[in-house]
Amino acid sequence: MSKFTTASFNKAKGEGHKISMLTAYDYSTAKLLDEAGVDSILVGDSLGMVVLGYENTLQVTLEDMIHHTRAVARGAKRALVIGDMPFLSYHVSVEETIKNAGRLIQEGNAHAVKLEGGREVLDKVEALVKAQIPVMGHLGLTPQSVNMLGGFKVQGKNEAQAKKMIEDAKLLQEAGVFAIVLECVPEKLAKLITESIDIPTIGIGAGKYCDGQVLVTQDMLGMYSDFTPKFVKKYTDIGSIVKEAVAAYGKEIQEGVFPEAKHTFAIDEETLKKLY
Ligand code: KIV
Ligand code: NA
Repeated sequence: MSKFTTASFNKAKGEGHKISMLTAYDYSTAKLLDEAGVDSILVGDSLGMVVLGYENTLQVTLEDMIHHTRAVARGAKRALVIGDMPFLSYHVSVEETIKNAGRLIQEGNAHAVKLEGGREVLDKVEALVKAQIPVMGHLGLTPQSVNMLGGFKVQGKNEAQAKKMIEDAKLLQEAGVFAIVLECVPEKLAKLITESIDIPTIGIGAGKYCDGQVLVTQDMLGMYSDFTPKFVKKYTDIGSIVKEAVAAYGKEIQEGVFPEAKHTFAIDEETLKKLY
């Protein structure tokens, strides 16, 4: 299969190909997702919660993101790798934003970056696109704003919020983003936004009318149980499989069942005799 690029995102919308995206934070997971044919891998700042054990995404640093993006990029051959810009890495100034995004590309080997927000970040988006860094937008529930939003809640339920979100999607498109994540947005609003712009929408908790879907891999594989949002579909339960395997391992060690001869290395008897 040929590489999935930002151009493929655009083409997909015209051709009705629904884009599949998942998160990854390490080499071996990225390799599995890539080999399974996922179109794009997001190194999300959800890293903070599912990998680093933080309560939210606010403690994730640019260094964390670069470190994990590098690992993912090594494992992805076909999928487009997108690195999330962490909290405060694109808020201080346009100059700092370009430098920080540039590090995700140059040191992290990401193909593109993602940042949260609408009209507030337009100058940053425009500058990044001018610097030849592809940008993905993110509207609706933007977890880096958790302290302003007062929790992780569905966004765009009232007229003012919904209108603002539609306008923000158009403004982001004008500023040059190649796609927009819609998180925790009512399905019919996500549909309206999807129909209002030419670039693809990637939904998470935003219903079936988006041009693609994204989920946190640990959620959909059943590996992260601290909190499971309503929009998650668990495709398997790796958590149970891991617990069973680890318990069996402990038991077999106790019982002397593991390791067996085939797992061990031999020394010749002559050499061995000389050691006694
Ligand atoms: O950090 C993340 O995983 C994300 C997705 C949920 C869109 O931003
Ligand atoms: Na994120």
